[in-house]
Amino acid sequence: MRKTLIAGNWKMNLNRAQAIALATDLKGEFSTEKKVDLAICPPFVYLDAVSTVLNGTSISLGAQDMYFEKEGAFTGEISGAMLGDMGCHHVILGHSERRHILGETDPVINKKVHAALALGLKPILCVGELLEEREAGKTQAVVRRQMEGSLKDVSAAQMEEIVIAYEPVWAIGTGKVATSQQAQSVHADLRMMIEACYNPAVAGKVRIQYGGSVKPSNAGELLSLPDVDGALVGGASLKAEDFLGIVAAAPAT
Ligand code: 13P
Repeated sequence: MRKTLIAGNWKMNLNRAQAIALATDLKGEFSTEKKVDLAICPPFVYLDAVSTVLNGTSISLGAQDMYFEKEGAFTGEISGAMLGDMGCHHVILGHSERRHILGETDPVINKKVHAALALGLKPILCVGELLEEREAGKTQAVVRRQMEGSLKDVSAAQMEEIVIAYEPVWAIGTGKVATSQQAQSVHADLRMMIEACYNPAVAGKVRIQYGGSVKPSNAGELLSLPDVDGALVGGASLKAEDFLGIVAAAPAT
């Protein structure tokens, strides 16, 4: 049975005081009795402060990106070891905003995946199609290309450590959520791709999150789909009430 993972991607939002306050509210109100895993991914500069707040709780800390090199002259970049040092367990890789705004490619994302795994960080690997790609009937081909490119040379044992996040780009920050049918269909395709590349046991273990305008009012339906194992939440993760509302809507696993 795959345990639901709800992760908050704070993106480039909040100031230090707000980040600490949000983490403190989540820590106070998240009940471990709820059988879901919870993770939050603040901006790099607030990881240390948020890590201190989360210390001793079951809420996992994640980062929104990392660089693949170990150390050196890479001005502005952050290494996986630095994230580990801050107490991170997860790292979001290949988010569509990095792919489409910052020009990140599958080969670069693949290097980041390997670097993260080598350090014991669990990648949350994002895939998803643009609106024009969906309208052209290319959704499956696009996510297949992203999966194959980003997961090149990843072993079966390593694959079990990875979380996939299906985030249709047209649903991110737009209020337009994928229908249950659209989400389930792509999630089932992704699981079949994992099965074909690895084996049914690995495919049965990998958690596939949905992301894109998830909020308390639509989370229950999305999270009850057979191949949706969690949510990667942007806007609604910035308010404790909304984020915990999504957690509350998750069916018990
Ligand atoms: P929204 O929930 O704001 O649509 O963002 C989704 C997302 O990109 C999470 O990584």
